Amino acid sequence: MPQTIAVLDFGSQLTQVIARRIRECQVYSKIYHFATPAAKLREDGVVGIILSGGPQSVYAKTAPHPDPAIFELGVPVLGICYGVQLMGHFLGGKVALSKEREYGHGHLTIKQPGKLFAGLPRHLRIWNSHGDKLTKLPPGFKATAISENSPFAGIEDPKRRFYGIQFHPEVFHTERGVDMIRNFLVGICRARQDWTTKDFIAHAVADIRAKVGKGRVLLGLSGGVDSSVAAALLHKAIGKQLTCVFVDNGLLRKDERNYVESLYKRNFKIDLRVVDASKLFLRRLKGVTEPEQKRKIIGRTFVAVFEQSLKSIGHAEFLGQGTLYPDVIESVSIGNNPASLIKTHHNVGGLPKRMKLKLIEPLRELFKDEVRQVGAALGLPKEVVWRQPFPGPGLGVRVMGDITADKLEILRNADFVLQDEMMKSGFYWKVWQSFAVFLPVKTVGVFGDERTYDYVVALRIVESIDAMTADWAKLPYDLLQKISSRITNEVRGVSRVVLDISSKPPATIEWE
Ligand code: XMP
Repeated sequence: MPQTIAVLDFGSQLTQVIARRIRECQVYSKIYHFATPAAKLREDGVVGIILSGGPQSVYAKTAPHPDPAIFELGVPVLGICYGVQLMGHFLGGKVALSKEREYGHGHLTIKQPGKLFAGLPRHLRIWNSHGDKLTKLPPGFKATAISENSPFAGIEDPKRRFYGIQFHPEVFHTERGVDMIRNFLVGICRARQDWTTKDFIAHAVADIRAKVGKGRVLLGLSGGVDSSVAAALLHKAIGKQLTCVFVDNGLLRKDERNYVESLYKRNFKIDLRVVDASKLFLRRLKGVTEPEQKRKIIGRTFVAVFEQSLKSIGHAEFLGQGTLYPDVIESVSIGNNPASLIKTHHNVGGLPKRMKLKLIEPLRELFKDEVRQVGAALGLPKEVVWRQPFPGPGLGVRVMGDITADKLEILRNADFVLQDEMMKSGFYWKVWQSFAVFLPVKTVGVFGDERTYDYVVALRIVESIDAMTADWAKLPYDLLQKISSRITNEVRGVSRVVLDISSKPPATIEWE
């Protein structure tokens, strides 16, 4: 078990970012509910605690408070923003209520570097976002840094190894913020930097083997990053005891099924069962136009097909899933924590319970970027590891209105041209998502000497960090021109290509 830094979550939107920054320093971090008993932290071998920011005032009736005994554990504590006010409140200082939030860029002047600011320049740009302010230091503390609005922008009690900063070191707007975090982890907590991809894989393989024994694991492979990496990791651990099921729902992209088969069956020698259920899906979707209805039908049919396919595969004890850390972090129901609202779309409903399968989730400790590193280390190609997200309902939500085989074929061909040009130009790796959308609208065109009356395809190409917000990508005109002319030339049934220039919000990334 690696040494753990506990991040107590007081409801900041940035809690996950703190946990990630810690891991970027090769130290293992775990997010805990703010009221986690100190005894539990001790039991988990926690070597340092970070108190996250949060939207509340420490005096508010509903303010989240930690177990005061965390200050008696004898491990270093770093309070960030709301966290520093908590330290003031619990350790005998004073916190002033403030109606307005101080938000945005600020300037830090370091007076006494101590261990937290060791090796840093005296003046740094910082990022603030706080309401209340510390106005009197708790006994034993001294100020180490000031900002234009606070004489206590940085504080410390080096004897007890308690540190506090009023600003946010975890965001990129704070210069050298990661160095402050690393100073806390390595210089103050003396945490081992043993959280590396290689070590993770070795731990995970040993864990899986111990858990599975001689049992058998089933895994629904979608071809996306998460399930692909889960498959590769499980395969490394238990080889033939893993069986993967890939459901062709008829809503896949061009050649997707062949690609998945050749990658996993031929290259990785994974026991992969491909179930062709495309006819069933298309039959059930016939005439359905309402997006939510389509999604429900696709989800339900997937579960039914998966369940059915297990009957022919034979007995298994475990169901593998590519669940990631953001999906399992206990949601703190204070403030607004959008990150905790992202849900996994790939779970297979109540299946594990009904089939009496135990869940095995080898990626549940990892963030997405860590999953990618593990995938690359396990030998998965770049196209899989850095693949753009693809929605569970597939092309079903990219053919507007009712879905037919003909429309799907047109969309597949147009999307193929788009991806081909995105790959060739390298822009595929620079944008969040790029895909084509089929519009059931016919418009007039000319092709050669002939009048045509054909469909419209829209290009949706967006930049985003986390899909919560997105902006349309400003690709070079000559690339857009090439994509458009290739689609109208090569794809029968399309006479017009349009570009979606809406951002999210108010538009979503997918059209349905
Ligand atoms: P929206 O359209 O809500 O999409 O802006 C945000 C991100 O989620 C993906 N998406 C889905 N993924 N099942 C999925 O697995 C779904 O039903 C689904 N709908 C949207 C979308 O591609 C984008 O990355």
